[in-house]
Amino acid sequence: MKNNVKLFMQGTFCIVILVFSSCQDKKTNTSFEKSSLGIPTNNEYYGFKSQVEWGEHLVLIGGCHDCHTPKKMTSHGPVLDTTLWLAGHPANMPRIDIDRNEVEKKGLAVAMDLTEWVGPWGISFSANLTPDPTGIGNWTEEQFIYALRNGIAKGIPDSRPILPPMPWEMIRHMTDDEMKAVFAYLRSIKPVNNIVPAPVPPTSVTN
Ligand code: HEC
Repeated sequence: MKNNVKLFMQGTFCIVILVFSSCQDKKTNTSFEKSSLGIPTNNEYYGFKSQVEWGEHLVLIGGCHDCHTPKKMTSHGPVLDTTLWLAGHPANMPRIDIDRNEVEKKGLAVAMDLTEWVGPWGISFSANLTPDPTGIGNWTEEQFIYALRNGIAKGIPDSRPILPPMPWEMIRHMTDDEMKAVFAYLRSIKPVNNIVPAPVPPTSVTN
């Protein structure tokens, strides 16, 4: 009997410690505000109101616009073309006029709007990330995560590797939740119909 009481006391003590420590964890790791109904209010997405707004923030700080949004030239320098938000290299834009042999040997050439890149890998064009079928409109969230984690075009396992300068080796370190938020944001923006040209192999490759 005495032993039972002792065990019971020890058990209760452990539960109290567990409950207390899990409360502590919650306090230090996350401090979600809850409504009177216990529903997380505005802190679930690190202070952003929704998954989409959090995704927008990640896209902005992730530098995706640098390469994926065409620019307009103004007297103050290049500015993002808001009508082509994340629409990738415009299909109708003339190719940059350079000696590819020379560039492939010497290093890199890039279009003024950073959507066309010529280097030892050939020519790559930044992808259309809008929710149009010519962009990522038909992609699943799983494909998106697979593409960014593994550097594989369209997130289809037997597809081709994603070419430079797409910094997927850095972007792959996003958490699943961050990638999901980026995907949710990209699916929320204006679809732009733009068939980005396929990459061109290097001049040294003949077949
Ligand atoms: C330095 C330029 C650059 C930056 C910055 C950049 N990208 Fe890219 N991205 C590219 C290029 C160029 C391609 C096309 C590569 C190819 O055709 O293989 C590409 C391809 C992609 C693809 C694959 C598309 C497909 O059809 O398979 C995805 C997805 C993507 N980028 C998402 C992003 C996101 C999200 C960000 C920001 C977090 C980002 N990129 C930042 C240049 C960039």
